[in-house]
Amino acid sequence: MDGTWTRDETRLPAQLRGLRLPLVGSPMFIISGPDLVIAQCKAGIVGSFPALNAREGAGEAPLLDAWLTRIREELDRHNQANPDSPAAPYAVNQIVHRSNTRLERDIDICVKHEVPIWITSLGARVEVNEAAHSCGGITLHDVINNTFAKKAIEKGADGLIAVAAGAGGHAGMQSPLALVQEIRSWFDGPLLLSGAIASGASLLAARAMGADFGYAGSPFIATEEANAEAAYKQMIVDSTAEDIVYSSLFTGVHGNYLKGSIRNAGMDPDNLPGSDPSAMDFGNRDKKPKAWKSIWGAGQGVGAIDDVVPAARLIQRIGDEYRQAGRRLAAEFGG
Ligand SMILES: Cc1cc2nc3c(=O)[nH]c(=O)nc-3n(C[C@H](O)[C@H](O)[C@H](O)COP(=O)(O)O)c2cc1C
Repeated sequence: MDGTWTRDETRLPAQLRGLRLPLVGSPMFIISGPDLVIAQCKAGIVGSFPALNAREGAGEAPLLDAWLTRIREELDRHNQANPDSPAAPYAVNQIVHRSNTRLERDIDICVKHEVPIWITSLGARVEVNEAAHSCGGITLHDVINNTFAKKAIEKGADGLIAVAAGAGGHAGMQSPLALVQEIRSWFDGPLLLSGAIASGASLLAARAMGADFGYAGSPFIATEEANAEAAYKQMIVDSTAEDIVYSSLFTGVHGNYLKGSIRNAGMDPDNLPGSDPSAMDFGNRDKKPKAWKSIWGAGQGVGAIDDVVPAARLIQRIGDEYRQAGRRLAAEFGG
């Protein structure tokens, strides 16, 4: 990446400045672990994983502690060897839902490691923001509408992730245009846009709308470093937006899933019954092995994914497209 673009980053917290590409690799249940996060950060974008992905066996030391040690050490080594292209900071996702019985323990581990960026989902809580701030970190809270966005900032989040229609996993229903426009009418802090960003042109569109960063998950499922079985990666490559279905059946919250995986599980993706939020349980997601393990989440942007590649190559591709799209538009404006 040539770093030839310049932007005014003075509004942004230090943790979010100087990325080689304005993109965050979003946290994905099961899929994101240290291999993917390290590859994303080394390639110049923020990499992230859900704390809940680090699961040790009964009686063993917390795996989250070991993962964070490894990530910090590998990124430090990279930075010493590559002072001219340092790694981007990493982020840890906390599911702030009453069924997440590990939350307090995981927060303590993240404070100990001075995690620089905390991504909170499914609940905004003052204590989590305070914990992040106590170790010099910032929090980004994900929201699907303007009401939740206001609540998150009231409770002390530093930035917002607008999860629009078409995002993989638990997604919103609003157009990204509407969501970003409403949030930007009162909020000038860090704003990320989530949902179907899988090309550089889409990333530029997010920036043009007023978001500071794109937030992309599904494209990274089809990378070598993703913790997903080969058939899942291939289904991402083979699918388009028409192969995605929005349903609350599997977790109790509406999300986007690959129709092919639902067919493979013996159901008709075009005739699914509904579910309700009381079905949500993050304390023991294994109770419903079908959700996430065999019913595969993915967003509507999968049509732009044609190959399983190393994460660095995907990031390079999106970066090249981003700069190309920027130059094309700048030329129209005489830039
Ligand atoms: C398989 C899968 C699992 C996900 N798991 C989580 C999660 O554990 N926590 C979270 O905050 N978001 C999760 N997400 C949502 C992503 O963080 C992000 O909002 C979404 O992937 C962005 O849309 P895209 O997939 O179209 O790029 C998940 C998404 C997918 C596809």
